[in-house]
Amino acid sequence: MLLLPISESKKLILFHRIMRRVQINYGRYRIGVTEFGTVVAGTGSSQADFIQEKEKNMKVLMINGSPHIKGNTYTALAEMEKIFAMEGIETEMIQVGNKMIRGCVACGSCADTGKCVFDDLVNETAPKFEACDGLVVGSPVYYASANATLIAFLTRLFYSTHFDKSMKAGAGVVAARRGGLSSTFDEINKFFTISGMPVVSSQYWNSIHGRTPGEALQDEEGLQTMRTLARNMAFLMKSIALGKEKYGLPEKEAFCRTNFIR
Ligand SMILES: Cc1cc2nc3c(=O)[nH]c(=O)nc-3n(C[C@H](O)[C@H](O)[C@H](O)COP(=O)(O)O)c2cc1C
Repeated sequence: MLLLPISESKKLILFHRIMRRVQINYGRYRIGVTEFGTVVAGTGSSQADFIQEKEKNMKVLMINGSPHIKGNTYTALAEMEKIFAMEGIETEMIQVGNKMIRGCVACGSCADTGKCVFDDLVNETAPKFEACDGLVVGSPVYYASANATLIAFLTRLFYSTHFDKSMKAGAGVVAARRGGLSSTFDEINKFFTISGMPVVSSQYWNSIHGRTPGEALQDEEGLQTMRTLARNMAFLMKSIALGKEKYGLPEKEAFCRTNFIR
């Protein structure tokens, strides 16, 4: 065995880790303290089992804003799905871009009912959105913007639902032949950043290149960007779950609305 010299700071970190991983066996339960200082308890053989149990129920909802069921947007989302499966995270993909989805008519009825007046895929998706830990929204680039059907869907979904979206991780993914990726990426991210949703990043802006369906499979860097994005997202969701356990969600102030006209 090769023994490497260990620095004083590393020794200190190791000491703290060992001290904080104290576990007590109590009947068939094992109570432990994680390195985050969180008290955990479970019937598994260790605290790691307990944390794994929590992770088992994690869900990512994936929205495909392309009219192509197996197009380049799908290729990007499917690459992420493989990583989520390896991480033990459940996924569901919803096909939006090929549906007849109208835009918001600003009737305001959702303010009273908590759902959209048009009873379609938007209302069907709402409970899935509420239940998920992370949301991935994919779009093809059309004239340097997201697909209009997707924007109609997201606008109505985010506006009509009143459940707390904060600390659900959000990732935007864009596919294009050549240009307009960054502006489309920004457009999607704005739904997350007005909702208290942490935005997940990767090794590059979350984009992939291709024109005809499947062409994106040749974009090695784009595929790698998607795998990195999924790993970062899994890490973030698990970290948020632990953070919620220890700190709870951040306190919310009563909403202060100003319109800049009075
Ligand atoms: C109406 C329309 C507009 C498009 N605009 C752009 C564009 O602005 N920039 C670009 O690079 N590609 C553009 N494209 C190409 C698509 O973004 C590209 O083919 C993408 O891979 C399609 O993704 P999908 O297979 O998931 O549908 C456009 C395609 C269509 C149909």
